[in-house]
Amino acid sequence: MIIFAIETSCDETAVAIVKDGREVLSNVVSSQIKTHEKFGGVVPEVAAREHLNSINIVIKETYEKANITPDKINAFASTVGPGLVGCLLVGLNAAKTLALVHNKPYIGVNHLNAHVCANFINSDLKPPFICLLVSGGHSQIIYVKDYDKQEILAQTIDDAVGEVYDKVARLCSIPYPGGILLDKMAHSGNKNAFNFPEAKVKEDEFSFSGLKTAVLREVKKFNTENLPKEDIAASFQYRIADTLIKKTKHFADKLNCKTIALAGGVAANSELRFRLEELKKQGYKTNAPELKYCTDNAAMVASAAYFNPIKTKDSFLLEVFSRG
Ligand code: KG4
Ligand code: ZN
Repeated sequence: MIIFAIETSCDETAVAIVKDGREVLSNVVSSQIKTHEKFGGVVPEVAAREHLNSINIVIKETYEKANITPDKINAFASTVGPGLVGCLLVGLNAAKTLALVHNKPYIGVNHLNAHVCANFINSDLKPPFICLLVSGGHSQIIYVKDYDKQEILAQTIDDAVGEVYDKVARLCSIPYPGGILLDKMAHSGNKNAFNFPEAKVKEDEFSFSGLKTAVLREVKKFNTENLPKEDIAASFQYRIADTLIKKTKHFADKLNCKTIALAGGVAANSELRFRLEELKKQGYKTNAPELKYCTDNAAMVASAAYFNPIKTKDSFLLEVFSRG
């Protein structure tokens, strides 16, 4: 089954064509980083307009790269939420229109499920597994019992991990997109320079706002010129990865499910991937999507459309939603 999918939930206009949920025939991502750079973050209204400007160009390029014609497509899919409503509408409308024009089904996809399904791309991973989903909007540990059966085991009670990364980057005057730049900077820092605290929370919770405040407290002790950005980045990154991996491992042991996967934009983080890799030595099976399938892309949406579509009587009546 060949699925054509569109992702426009935030600041990437992405289109992909994927066979049977795992084999990518083409994957095009047009990033709006340059546009939002000057604002220091994503401006929803501006992002929606950018999607509108780019969507048809990206669709054309995706067809060309796959060297495929629309008659070979079995279904058209898009993310319906959670995300920025104005942005989601662009992708949803384009995908529904393509489906109607070519007389094919439309499939709606949940953005978070799509991040989880990024693990199936170019891999033979099968449920059950424990998935640590960390993005700009969400931080969750999910028990993926089956392709379409998931249970949330833990989630953040305040900021999402990506959000904390971006905020801490801003505190350190690291420009947008903060997360990835902070990750790079951490490589030349000392992770033991600052002992940032780990929040005391319940088994099913994460909390990162205290960590953010602790970083702010340290930043205030320095002038901009002598701020030890690298050391702050390394110490912060160590604490985040350690907290996330420890709790994920806890649930893997508790449920006796020894396969652990990563998902979401922060799954591209080098320390997190290193710590995941280390779990192999302790007997866990691990999986992490390739970097380009961690951050927002449409290949993961096509994969979710295949493995875990939103179930509804009439998918053409599906509407976008902002929070999940
Ligand atoms: O999944 P994603 O592309 O969009 C959402 O659905 O939110 O995640 C974006 C988030 C941003 O907060 C970004 O700073 C973070 O992922 N991110 C990273 C890295 N690459 C992207 N955070 C830490 N290290 C990275 N290498
Ligand atoms: Zn995302």
